[in-house]
Order: sequence, then C-alpha cells, then structure tokens
Amino acid sequence: MNPAIGVCYYPEHWPEDWWEIDAACMAEVGIKVVRIGEFAWSKLEPTPGDLQLDWMIRAMDVLGRHGLQVIVGTPTATPPRWMIDKHPDMLAVDGQGRRKGFGSRRHYDFSHLGYREESARITRILSDALSGHPALGGWQTDNEYGCHGTTYSYSPAALDGFRLWLEHKYGTIEALNEAWGTVFWSMDYNRFDQIELPNLTVTEVLPIHDLDFRRYSSDQVAAFNKVQYDILKAARPDLPVIHNFMSRYTEFDHYDVAETLDVASWDSYPIGHLAVSDEPEETKRAYLRQGDPDNAAFHHDHYRTVGHGRWWIMEQQPGPVNWAQANPDPLPGMARLWAWEAFAHGAEVVSYFRWRQAPFAQEQMHAGLHRPDREPAPAYFEAKQVAEELAATGIGGTAAKGRIALVFDYQSEWAWDVQPQAAGFKHGTHVRALYATFRKHGLDVEILSPKTKTFDGFDIVAIPGLFAWTDELREAISNFDGHLLLGPRTGSKTQNFSFPARLGPDLPQNLLDLKVARVDSLPLASKCR
Ligand code: GAL
Repeated sequence: MNPAIGVCYYPEHWPEDWWEIDAACMAEVGIKVVRIGEFAWSKLEPTPGDLQLDWMIRAMDVLGRHGLQVIVGTPTATPPRWMIDKHPDMLAVDGQGRRKGFGSRRHYDFSHLGYREESARITRILSDALSGHPALGGWQTDNEYGCHGTTYSYSPAALDGFRLWLEHKYGTIEALNEAWGTVFWSMDYNRFDQIELPNLTVTEVLPIHDLDFRRYSSDQVAAFNKVQYDILKAARPDLPVIHNFMSRYTEFDHYDVAETLDVASWDSYPIGHLAVSDEPEETKRAYLRQGDPDNAAFHHDHYRTVGHGRWWIMEQQPGPVNWAQANPDPLPGMARLWAWEAFAHGAEVVSYFRWRQAPFAQEQMHAGLHRPDREPAPAYFEAKQVAEELAATGIGGTAAKGRIALVFDYQSEWAWDVQPQAAGFKHGTHVRALYATFRKHGLDVEILSPKTKTFDGFDIVAIPGLFAWTDELREAISNFDGHLLLGPRTGSKTQNFSFPARLGPDLPQNLLDLKVARVDSLPLASKCR
C-alpha cells in the first residue's frame, strides 16, 4: 500500500455522537488507517454469550464513510472479568508461585488451553461479523504479546504443557538426561512427569532446563497467534494479519510468531523506551526529548525482517507517555521526524497512539493527538504535516537494501540471560552497539534471523554473541565469501547449552582455524593492567 499515517481510536471510550466528528476530522488530517477494538471485549460480550457487536459495526460504518480503513484488534489481551469466573486457572503464575490478579490487562496464561479456545471463539465471532465489512482493512492479533512480563507462567497449565513439549522433543527420558547433562548434580529423571518448571530451585537451575522452558514458552505465544491467524485468514485471505511488537522485548521468538503474520508492526515510544532502557545516564540526558535514534532505527530494520519485508508502526508516541520514571514532552517536530524516520526505513503505515487522551483510567496522563477536552495537542499538527508531505511527495514505503547483515537471535538473548558469566553480558547490547557503529558510518544494515540460509548480496556479515549455530547459518557461512565479523562468544555453545567438542567458535577448520581455549570475565568498568 502507499505509505500512510494512521491512528489508534477507541470508540467505546467516547459518546457515540462524537464518532462522526472524529472521523471527519481524521479524514481532514489525512489519516488513512484507524486501529480499533483491541481492548473492547467487555463491551463486545458483557456477559458470556451476550454478543453486542452492533456498536462496533456502527463505528466501522462511520469510519468507512469517511474513507478510513479499519484495522480491528482481537480483544484477547483483555479478557472480561466473567472469564475469570469461568476459567479461574487461566491467570498466569509468577516465578514465586503467586497467581496474578484481574484489574489491569494481559491477565492470561499462554499455556491455558481453555483460554486459547476462548480466544479462538471471540476471533471467530469477530471474523464472522466483520469480515465482509467494506471498511475492514486488516486485523491485529491481541496486543503486544508478552508485555508486562507475561510470556512466562509457572502454572499447572504450563507445567503440563512443558512436560508434553519435552517428551515430544526428546522422545525418551534417557535422551533428555543425556542432552541436559543431569548426571552433574544427580539430577537424573526417571519419567517426564517428574520434571518441574525451572523456578523455586535452591540454587542455579540447569541452564538447558531454563532455556528449554523459554523455548517452550515462546512456542506457546506462536501457537496462540497461529490460532487467531488461521481463523482470520480463512475468512479473508486478502487482508493482512498484523501484530504490534515492542522495543527491546525478547522473551519470545518474534521470527517464529511472524510465521503466521503478514505484516509485523511495532509500538514506537522513543522517549519512553530510552527512559526505561539500561543505556548510560549521559545517553539518556543527551536524548531526553528525542529518544535514541539508533534504537528506533534498529527496530525499524529488525521488524522489516520479522514481517518478511512488510512492517508498520502501530503505535507512535505523540507526546509524553505515562509509564517511565519521568515523561518528558518531545521536542517540537519529533512526532513528525519519527514518522519520516520510519518511512525512510520502509514503513507502510505510521499510526499515532492515540486520537484523544483519555480523561480516566490508567493512561490518563498519556498524551494523544488531542487533549481530553477535545482540542488538538501539538502532535496533531505534526501528524497533519506528515500526511500533507506524504501526499505531496508520494515517497516512502521502500527502503534501500543494506550491504551489511547483522544476525539477531532470540535464543542467544535467553541463553546469556540464563548464564551470563559476566554481569551485564547481553546479546542485544552487542548487536545494537555494532548496529550503531555501522550507522555512524552511514551504512544501511539488514537484520537477519539465525534461520537465514544465504548471505548472498552482502559485503559484511556480523554475528555477535550468537550462543549456538543453527544448521542454516553454518551453511550460509560456508558459501559466503565476504567479510565475516564474529563477536564475543559466538558459537561457544551447542544447542543443548554445552561446550562444543572442539570449543568455540565451532566452525570447520577450513573456514576458521581458531579455537577459544581460555576465557575470563571482569567486573563492569574494571581497569585492567
Ligand atoms: C503500548 C500499548 C498501548 C498503550 C501504550 C501507552 O504498550 O500497546 O495499549 O498502553 O503502550 O504508551
């Protein structure tokens, strides 16, 4: 599609006689895409089986009349209160064994198969009712999978699922014992149903036990998404199914989830993200009102790959957010600049969050394109300017292909979190530092997944901090004749989280005649002599 701006809108938050005025104003601004619905379950089904979809259809009618395309979010990030009566055990359990409560959002467990069926049910209902609506432009599945630390749950449902997953993976308990190295502290198992989740152990748990649990949990997110995707695509194969991912959020494998997505999107809050990041204080001060430009650019490039070349910004920061330690106003012009930065990286849509600041509830201190009194906020004028510029120039939507490839791998994020060996060693930190270095030299970077089969067309391939090779990467390296840059620890473990037989970086000698024979690690910021 032609690059466009969009907005997130919550018709259920406003009196119905405002909708027409809002839609007319959106069209006047030059907005083309409106996302609705992702938190509206209790308004769509106030009590079990009492379906009230008419208001949503009327909202879509209004938006459609003004030429706006509607992206409907499945509301599964906010199951209504009655759902908890129906499935009390669908609430996730934290690492300390405490069940999480109702009263905010994302209160569900990815492993709970009863809730997965409820999620399929409401998705089917929406698909049946709205698929034929002329204003429907696509779907968003759920909202920000994993946000607020919700990928992992230490519940009975997760335990059952994990045991089955292990049995499927290893086949026999002997094979699991062998692969895990359970002999080490007499941790051998006799049966799969003896294996617990990797929390509440006396001291460090087996690293591969922890890593396998993270792999299992990631697979549950992918399975959850697939259920919705299959339903939505069956009805309208022509419409894109999208999910809105996050910044620096790596608890599940986004490449896997995106196997059942047509477009990846992410929610870009440059100032908030910098404030909550572990960047040094001087970086935070330098970019207080702009956000770290490399962080946004990195995610643009990353999600382009996650989305198989198609990506959006589903939520763009419009002003101060409400969720960081402090929430500065962006400098004048940032809401426009961020949009152009995204279009320059190939975004199809930049959608501002949200049309109007809510005067109530958790996010009442979060800016929108309008203030709660319905007057425009500064970002309104910037969004309008972007729309005018887009219309005038007709550019955007494609990005030049970079000659440099940088491999980003979720499993490495997890592995070094499980066993960092030096406090602060993080895969993402190395990837982003290299990214920033390349960008400083004006070079365009492609982010690749560890399942990339070929490096054809690249001059430089950088693989920092990759914990274990995949067959695909080994193959791609064997056929690559450009410059290969391997970062620290790359190839230093096997997929079973052990040392490779000939030590890292574990590439055939004809490719790299090198082995890392000894390592040590130093405290952060220590001075060596
Ligand atoms: C996102 C979320 C939105 C809203 C926004 C506030 O993470 O998807 O629903 O909460 O943050 O910045």
